[in-house]
Amino acid sequence: MTKKKRKLKKKALAIITVTLIIILLIPILFLNKNEPKTAKKESKKTNELGDIAKKIDFYKDDYTDRYLAYKKANPNLSNEKVIVNVNIGLDYPYYENVQKTKYLNTSYIIVNKYNSLDSDYVPSNMEKIDSSFSKGERLMVDYAQEAFEELARSALEEGYNIYAMSTYRSYEYQNSLYNNYVSLDGQDKADTYSARAGFSEHQTGLAADVCNKEQPYTEFENTKEFNWMQENAYKYGFILRYPKDKVEETGYMYEPWHYRYVGKEIAEYIHQKNITYEEYYVRFIESKKDINKD
Ligand code: DAL
Ligand code: ZN
Repeated sequence: MTKKKRKLKKKALAIITVTLIIILLIPILFLNKNEPKTAKKESKKTNELGDIAKKIDFYKDDYTDRYLAYKKANPNLSNEKVIVNVNIGLDYPYYENVQKTKYLNTSYIIVNKYNSLDSDYVPSNMEKIDSSFSKGERLMVDYAQEAFEELARSALEEGYNIYAMSTYRSYEYQNSLYNNYVSLDGQDKADTYSARAGFSEHQTGLAADVCNKEQPYTEFENTKEFNWMQENAYKYGFILRYPKDKVEETGYMYEPWHYRYVGKEIAEYIHQKNITYEEYYVRFIESKKDINKD
């Protein structure tokens, strides 16, 4: 090959290579130009939370900044737990960022320091608990009342006395109860054990404070009835709503006497996994599309 021919061949190869590179780069350049700037930013942020964020169906795109800030403040938490906690609302102080709760008049309802009830909310279909299992006239939503009586009857057959001492409480009654506690203990202390009006699960008609026949409810933890409840309450659809190791998550101190009806299936899951109703709610209820919201 002559020198001239070799030069020409080199030139042709260079042209082909450059053309190929341009052809390959066109789609990349084209796609990048069309991607909105904010979306690029978001996906970068999502990546900081890892791939897990993309796989979780209760991940909320518009909460990305909150997830990142919460992760920064709690670096030891897994990304999944960060998402759960932020969805619960725990990145805000209690009673700030409150929303009206959904799923009224269903057993899925959540009421806590982030989800409230209107002052005029009275659950429909409440029934009186059989007087052999309650102290005075105590009301619950009918399916919860039936489940409670079933629970108390089974307990009694095995030699345990479970009594409902406080169940449905109206907004007005909760208000006077809370205000009394505030005047006794001050607001900060009262907030650790008593709900402000509109924020009490008792207003849903699905909660029951229980005791045995002999001791006050504050002693319930030290009774054989408490042990029975620990082992059996979930079988009737009830959960211990404010466990000892979940104070921050529920917003309330340990209440060994306070049980909440959620239905058998959910109660069993919560019992087995040792999670709060808050966590169950954000994982499985909030993202459901097929629940009648009333
Ligand atoms: N003691 C519970 C938290 C209530 O007041 O509803
Ligand atoms: Zn209670």
